[in-house]
Amino acid sequence: IIKDKEFAPFIESTRIQEKVAQLAARINDDYADKNPLLLAVLNGSFMFAADLMRNMCIPAEISFIRLSSYNRTRSTGRVKELIGLEENIFGRHLIIVEDIVDTGLTIRHLLDELQELGPKSLEIATLLHKSAATKESLTLKYVGFDIPQKFVVGYGLDYDGQGRNLNDIYSLA
Ligand code: PRP
Ligand code: MN
Ligand code: MG
Repeated sequence: IIKDKEFAPFIESTRIQEKVAQLAARINDDYADKNPLLLAVLNGSFMFAADLMRNMCIPAEISFIRLSSYNRTRSTGRVKELIGLEENIFGRHLIIVEDIVDTGLTIRHLLDELQELGPKSLEIATLLHKSAATKESLTLKYVGFDIPQKFVVGYGLDYDGQGRNLNDIYSLA
């Protein structure tokens, strides 16, 4: 398991926090008077979603769904829905909140399902984007950092369930 002192972080906590504040400021501008519903994808996005919302100063709501497709470091190619959505999202302005878009499979799956429910608008906020690994064609409106194709851990992101509590983001090999 990773100890904070043994490796240099890939993205330090101060840089993460700065970026989160910038994204929140853009959302404040874009969604003033729209009462957006943030839809955070558990488990990975819990920290980003909390910090993002803390930095927002407009009326907004949040709800959670739980999707999972990774086994250790590899995408299984299938998205498992573990907790579904309970809110009525018809006519709402939705912002999906993800920690990372990698292959894009999770987001693709979610966009297709959500579109059917008639939201007024639907955008994506992701802290990290591995753009070179993304196979789906997606419009990601709010992206924190575009990162290379390495497995990353910390700030919500896990390796086999571990490491989500780290304040910085580390890359494994
Ligand atoms: C991770 C991550 C994203 C998704 C991105 O979730 O949090 O939700 O994978 O990968 P993709 O673009 O290739 O679909 P994971 O399945 O590991 O579940 P977790 O959030 O509970 O860790
Ligand atoms: Mn996830
Ligand atoms: Mg994971």
